[in-house]
Amino acid sequence: MKIFTRKSELKAFLSPSKKEKKTIGFVPTMGALHQGHLSLIKRAKKKNDVVVVSVFVNPTQFDNKEDLDKYPKTYENDVALLESVDCDVLFFPSIKEIYAENIVSEKFDFEGLEYQMEGRFRDGHFDGVGTIVKTLFEIVEPDTAYFGKKDFQQLQIIKKLVEKYKLPVKIEGRPIFREEDGLAMSSRNVRLTKEYREAAPFIYKILKKARKKFGIKDAKELTEWVEKQFKKHPLLELEYFTIADEKTLQTTTTIEPNKKYRAFVAVFAGNIRLIDNIRLKSKKSIEAS
Ligand code: PAF
Repeated sequence: MKIFTRKSELKAFLSPSKKEKKTIGFVPTMGALHQGHLSLIKRAKKKNDVVVVSVFVNPTQFDNKEDLDKYPKTYENDVALLESVDCDVLFFPSIKEIYAENIVSEKFDFEGLEYQMEGRFRDGHFDGVGTIVKTLFEIVEPDTAYFGKKDFQQLQIIKKLVEKYKLPVKIEGRPIFREEDGLAMSSRNVRLTKEYREAAPFIYKILKKARKKFGIKDAKELTEWVEKQFKKHPLLELEYFTIADEKTLQTTTTIEPNKKYRAFVAVFAGNIRLIDNIRLKSKKSIEAS
């Protein structure tokens, strides 16, 4: 695997492949890689001639300094994992290489997607994500970029970014990878204490129960039911639970048969913030399918 820290060197390396019309698959990450990332890389390997992974903890998407400072950094392990899946290129730039002296975000209009859920609780987060993803796309110029659906709102926002700026890249969303006990894989999971790690699978358990109740209880009743379950939990603190339209990400109170819905959740396990989501099907469509 080739490792580059400079954009110019990465571009020079990729240039002959582009001239030969080889396809480039790209997986942007913030490192602390886990099986979820590896599944994206394996998918990229299967579908492309060259696979580039970036590892860059992007400061502008953090609204919480402690979260940024404590974000896990596991470079040696990341390199070993990337080599184990035969990744072709690792791009590992410094903050200066990306932002020079000006560590600020561009301001984006994602047509309202940015004001829902994570956007309500993480100030400026999606401007930071938009800034780094657009910058990385300009450097790597991938044919396809791969993102996990755990960050479903991020995925929709990146699709909007590509549409608005007419960026020549295809975005592929991939299924959420879970631990055996159901906890969605996340780089932050390694920061959970034993007690919180044991408690955390409760999140997915409740999401699965909510999915079963969807269509039987209405969206408001279901939201109240979930809130009640978390109130009873001694360790986990619910930040939000919402049922939203997959496309607009707007919280919904009515369920229309031709629309797709998802339940989204953010939970504090101590001072570690975890998010998850699940696709919903109304009882009628489950019976029909
Ligand atoms: O999902 C992530 O790890 C990050 O938000 C991303 C897309 C790599 C941008 O920094």
